[in-house]
Amino acid sequence: MDKIEELKKKRNAIILAHNYQPPEIQDLADLCGDSLELAIRASKTRADVIVFCGVHFMAETASIVCPDKTVLLPAMDAGCPMADMVTVSTLKKKISELGASMPVVTYVNSPASVKALSTVCCTSANSAKVINSLEAKEVLMTPDRNLAAYTAGLTDKKVHLWEGYCPIHDALRADDVVRAQAQHPDAAVMAHPECRAEVLAMADVVLSTSGMLRYARESEAGSFLVATENGLLYALKKACPEKSFYPVSEKMICPDMKRITPESIADCLENMAPEVKVPVDVQQRALGAVEKMLALK
Ligand code: 13P
Ligand code: SF4
Repeated sequence: MDKIEELKKKRNAIILAHNYQPPEIQDLADLCGDSLELAIRASKTRADVIVFCGVHFMAETASIVCPDKTVLLPAMDAGCPMADMVTVSTLKKKISELGASMPVVTYVNSPASVKALSTVCCTSANSAKVINSLEAKEVLMTPDRNLAAYTAGLTDKKVHLWEGYCPIHDALRADDVVRAQAQHPDAAVMAHPECRAEVLAMADVVLSTSGMLRYARESEAGSFLVATENGLLYALKKACPEKSFYPVSEKMICPDMKRITPESIADCLENMAPEVKVPVDVQQRALGAVEKMLALK
């Protein structure tokens, strides 16, 4: 820990961590947050170096918004299977089918090259706001079909879905919620919009990870069932030690979110690698889509 603090000072570095990171990483981060909060913080930091404790697309987003900074990802193999479900070639094919004027709303869980082809980005915290900000009556939303279907219910626009999904959230079923509710009948159910519609239909609230943290703090409920990756439970318990939180399923673990260790953070600050750097031509085209989202907040 002391070594990390020393290296942070030496490099003028900031450590950003996603809410799913292991407890020891959340505890040493300067900021924990959801994808939107982390992108906003990256865009505003005065640090020279950003150590991104999350997955590859999150570090890429930081590189898009701060091309002059060094963005380090302590575990280069921390990917996101959903982000790999949309590519430049498959998106170009879809755009040619739907027509070049169709706006493309791309979830940040996507490669930088796909953001570069998109009209605007969104996160789980602002998808309806982003879609409603567009003038068009129809949009294509990539890559998460569950987030797109959920957002379609919050707008009058026609939303064309893309067949991508998060393997962790998509595996959850209504039966899992029924079983968990039988154990904890008084608990409020919080679900992430990456879950299937059958799960979202049983939730009291559908929120991003930081949205769940805010809701838990403000709600009068004393116990909660949590339908998202289970790393959030540590953040929830830390934020509200007097309340009780239970996972809807013990299976909800994202292995990619567990690859970073304190040792890998120290190593990457020592060696200034591995670095995530989006090529300039992609960065410049992707920045428009990310900035449009950030301007909406
Ligand atoms: P949030 O933006 O809600 O934190 O979600 C990111 C993510 O990867 C969910 O699986
Ligand atoms: Fe990707 Fe799902 Fe892991 Fe989030 S939980 S990083 S969407 S695989």
